Amino acid sequence: MTNRKKPVGPRKILVTSALPYANGSIHLGHLVEYIQTDIWVRFQKMQGNECHYVCADDTHGTPIMLRAESEGITPEQLIDRVWHEHKADFDGFHVAFDHYGSTNSSETREYAQSIYRKLKAANFIEVRSVEQFYDPVKEMFLPDRFIKGECPKCHARDQYGDNCEACGTTYAPTELINPYSAVSGAQPERRSSDHYFFKLSDPRCHEFLNAWTQGKLGTQSVAPLQAEAANKMREWFESGLSDWDISRDAPYFGFEIPDAPGKYFYVWLDAPVGYMGSFKKLCDTKNIDFDEFWKADSTTELYHFIGKDILYFHALFWPAMLKFSGQRAPTQIFAHGFLTVNGEKMSKSRGTFITADSYLKQGLNPEYLRYYYAAKLNGTMEDLDLSLEDFVARVNSDLVGKYVNIASRCAGFINKRFDGKLADLVANNVPALLGQKYGYSCVEAEKAATLIADAFEKRDFSKALREIMAFADSANQFVDQYKPWAMAKEVGKEDELQQVCTLALNMFRWLTILLKPVLPELAKNVEIFLNVPPLTWEDVHTSLPADHRINEYKHLMTRIDTKQIDAMIEANKQTLAPAADSHSPTRHAEAQQHTPSPQSSLASGESSARGAKPGEREEQPSTLAPIAETISIDEFSKIDLRVAKIVNAEHVEGAEKLLKLTLDIGEAQTRTVFAGIKSAYDPEKLKGRMTVMVANLAPRKMKFGLSEGMVLAASGTEPGLFILSPDDGAQPGMRIK
Ligand code: 2FM
Ligand code: ZN
Repeated sequence: MTNRKKPVGPRKILVTSALPYANGSIHLGHLVEYIQTDIWVRFQKMQGNECHYVCADDTHGTPIMLRAESEGITPEQLIDRVWHEHKADFDGFHVAFDHYGSTNSSETREYAQSIYRKLKAANFIEVRSVEQFYDPVKEMFLPDRFIKGECPKCHARDQYGDNCEACGTTYAPTELINPYSAVSGAQPERRSSDHYFFKLSDPRCHEFLNAWTQGKLGTQSVAPLQAEAANKMREWFESGLSDWDISRDAPYFGFEIPDAPGKYFYVWLDAPVGYMGSFKKLCDTKNIDFDEFWKADSTTELYHFIGKDILYFHALFWPAMLKFSGQRAPTQIFAHGFLTVNGEKMSKSRGTFITADSYLKQGLNPEYLRYYYAAKLNGTMEDLDLSLEDFVARVNSDLVGKYVNIASRCAGFINKRFDGKLADLVANNVPALLGQKYGYSCVEAEKAATLIADAFEKRDFSKALREIMAFADSANQFVDQYKPWAMAKEVGKEDELQQVCTLALNMFRWLTILLKPVLPELAKNVEIFLNVPPLTWEDVHTSLPADHRINEYKHLMTRIDTKQIDAMIEANKQTLAPAADSHSPTRHAEAQQHTPSPQSSLASGESSARGAKPGEREEQPSTLAPIAETISIDEFSKIDLRVAKIVNAEHVEGAEKLLKLTLDIGEAQTRTVFAGIKSAYDPEKLKGRMTVMVANLAPRKMKFGLSEGMVLAASGTEPGLFILSPDDGAQPGMRIK
């Protein structure tokens, strides 16, 4: 089922990327997906296919509603502002949507409501009473991530309603000890209300999804899922599909459910419908037949690029919603892995939680990142690492050292010596060897283009770029062999100089065609320099004609300066100031409530495709835990707090959150403390620092050794952990009273 039937005429393709939430910045984690999709779409367009690429901001849900409230603005004002920020970031990275919309649109509302009505008519909707925590102060039901309390297992305080960050246990919010609302601090009540469920457990869903997964529907010509994703589907089928809670009670920023006053569609119901809403807007402006792309028997192709953590929504709910509302199913779902930076999860304290805007503000060329991501993407769900050192080395060596170098070494001679005119490479005066090389290169370029097109089609961009760079290597070898700079000094070598430079520039042109999906802006500049119309894939079968006049060569790309990278990292560290830290939510805060295990083991414990770890509470409103119960001074004085000097700090093998600290508190022996501060501190930077420790805490035997006390650190609902420092002059061992 892997070979697509070749359609007659251009293919008609609709492509989407996952919709980013409308209350946070686009970061390099997001960009893996948008860049991947954009490259694929540009490749399809270069092939002459009719390919439409749409996306939108995902604007609904509790976090967005609360975020707007905390900023003192309406949700509409918030989503409008963020839409412009997102659009500017995407434009900055040359992600060229044909339409970038918003789920808060009349089109999305209409499609969501009409899909719902059809599902209801087909008996896929059921109403059930659900008991949840309710915030009596805010007068709203609380999603799990908006409830905090003491972990029922390890008794760590201020843990979220779904899992403990200290010991990793997962539980229901009702199991938390002393739960409180992260929105108001109030003690939540349990209340019941009616919820609307989509009956995914209906045997019709299983039957259809099973056939679709195996590519057995009559309309299918390819299997819709990557091997890893298909395996995951099998597991989900085996454990049984559960119904999906698609409603939320007011107050909620979203669309009202028809004939259900006070009930709103859960954000994940209308998010994928946003693909349709955004596409409809495009259809209306460009006169495209919307139904041709969505009707049940559509022969067009529909592809969704997503992160692997939202597979459940796209491979189960979404195809079932489409099918049972009388529409087509997606042709394929392309899931990708998560981004790590320098081999680790993106981290705000390390400055590797890099926003798109901060990258662009450093003056870093967006095409560096496009190239680097392409060099690492292979069409699988494997994670992708942005190693900043490797990034600099690879871009400088491949793009500047190899590709651009071909043009920069030859263009000057054509411009200065030959008035910009190219030679005739099949003329009689072309030396035999050079003539042969030209003929051979034409064939090589065509062969490479076929191989590379296949790799682009399969989203194996890393393979495409390996082939392209091999071709660039052979072009450079050719230039090195003929040495135009030496020829330019020899008498009687004029013609050959022009011929050699012409052939090199032809090679450069072929390379530009092959690289154009990845480097669209650079290609535009090359088109100006070569004085040619926009290059298409077909152009690989032709050469620049004799006497064609090129334009003056202007620098096409400069090397990355590592200082820019350092400055970018610093800039992202600076955004850590707690109040100013306002990043987008992860999908999880919304996804977890009443959603049958959508996160799956694919995502658990890993950083998300959006670069943030599951359950990260970026979208939590700024609230502080309520003050604990009153204690007497005697009780307080039982705690022996001491000034401690961190004499050593190191990573602990196998520990995700801990650093091993060696502390001097003025005793004969140093103390060892395992502190859960790895996410926030580079051990090297802690060495020599003064801090505060609880010196009389009973030693605790941990998996990694004995912990002889506790280091104090501040944390809030925003990300970030901050260890304490005494004022200058404090000495190790001084008592804190
Ligand atoms: O995970 C997220 O960021 C969601 N906003 C993605 C939605 S994709 C689609 F379904 F709209
Ligand atoms: Zn715990």
